[in-house]
Amino acid sequence: MPYPMGNIHPRFWSWYMGSSNYTGAIGDFLAAIQGSNLGGGNHAAALMDQQVIGWCKEMVGFPASASGTLVSGGSMANIIGLTVARNVKADVDVRERGVRAIEKPLRFYGSDQIHSCHRKAIETLGLGNQALRRIPCDSGFRIDLSALRAAIAEDRAEGSQPACVIGTAGTVNTGAIDDLRGLARLAREEDLWLHVDGCIGALIAIAPENAFRVEGIEEADSLSLDPHKWLHVPFEAGCVLIRDAAAHRSAFVVTPEYLEPSARALASGDWLNDYGLQTSRGFKALKIWMSLKEHGIEKFGRLIDQNIAQAHYLSDIIEAAPLLELVAAANINIVCYRYRPAGMNRAALKAVNTEIMLRLQEEGVAAVSDTTIHCEHCLRAAINNHRTKSDDLELLVRETIRIGNDIVGENLAL
Ligand SMILES: Cc1ncc(COP(=O)(O)O)c(C=O)c1O
Repeated sequence: MPYPMGNIHPRFWSWYMGSSNYTGAIGDFLAAIQGSNLGGGNHAAALMDQQVIGWCKEMVGFPASASGTLVSGGSMANIIGLTVARNVKADVDVRERGVRAIEKPLRFYGSDQIHSCHRKAIETLGLGNQALRRIPCDSGFRIDLSALRAAIAEDRAEGSQPACVIGTAGTVNTGAIDDLRGLARLAREEDLWLHVDGCIGALIAIAPENAFRVEGIEEADSLSLDPHKWLHVPFEAGCVLIRDAAAHRSAFVVTPEYLEPSARALASGDWLNDYGLQTSRGFKALKIWMSLKEHGIEKFGRLIDQNIAQAHYLSDIIEAAPLLELVAAANINIVCYRYRPAGMNRAALKAVNTEIMLRLQEEGVAAVSDTTIHCEHCLRAAINNHRTKSDDLELLVRETIRIGNDIVGENLAL
């Protein structure tokens, strides 16, 4: 316990992590004791797994006929969704003949703020990083729809095949949410698959005050979401939903002789490994099931609203502090800011803010991380934490200024 990553601390806001919950931890413990393998079969854990997928569909407005699977996290959820997209849009049997049989090179699109796991996914799918075009954003860090249309037209003209657009509901840098309705319309008109990366923001759909921000998410062909973020279940728990269940299954189904279904008994259920890459899979559903049963969806929705309100409060007190500045306007729960005394150039600002971040962590004050947004380096607090209170945010502002002043006073080589 003395040296954890720290994400059960009220002032842990680094990168993007949920802050877990006690019932979920008990769920993991009980799942290990119960010992079920979710590769498939007709048994209690498999039914609970499907119940949790059903609840995920309800939370984001997906139809009951959609399919889904629980995976380790958002990166795996995205690769499952993008695999189905590639196979549906390839116009050849990619599973049988491989990507070399695809006649026109497939093109995928996302904003220049897209998460790095999509690059890994596209590379792993054999399409190559260049198949993923990064489209510029508007001033709010949302994908620019007219630039997207222009890129699609350009690719068609030069003989490529536009296949899929990846929208983001909550970018990792700033929490920006793409215009999901606009993307759904464009995808329909251009005959593209719409995958939405909702690892951060899909669950805003259950937050009464902020649900409007993700309107249109229910129109996606595939959607990733992360119960280990805003449902606060312990790592690991990600989920992908696919509107066309048959397309989902046909991307992964293989029935070897030793996994033949039977008419009765254990092997009479659906083989859940037909919906993803894993054969053996742990009973992740239990910690989600228990957390939702204990707390209810409404409470998790209120906590999302609370984190978003906290990020706006933090932005307000940063704006009111003369030595601090916001580097991007707060959108949902991510605040990008920096210590900025007069007369420092970019390089010096980066050096002093990096040192502030390290001291905040090393002194045990708070864990924030850093990033660079359109060339501007900044500190970044992602408040996905049900333990955070206003005092914690006020302390962050005071301590950022104190440490910044100390560093300037020490006259380090900046
Ligand atoms: C927008 C987005 N997509 C994907 C991921 C990857 O999710 P995971 O870390 O659960 O694999 C993250 C992680 O923070 C993310 O913010």
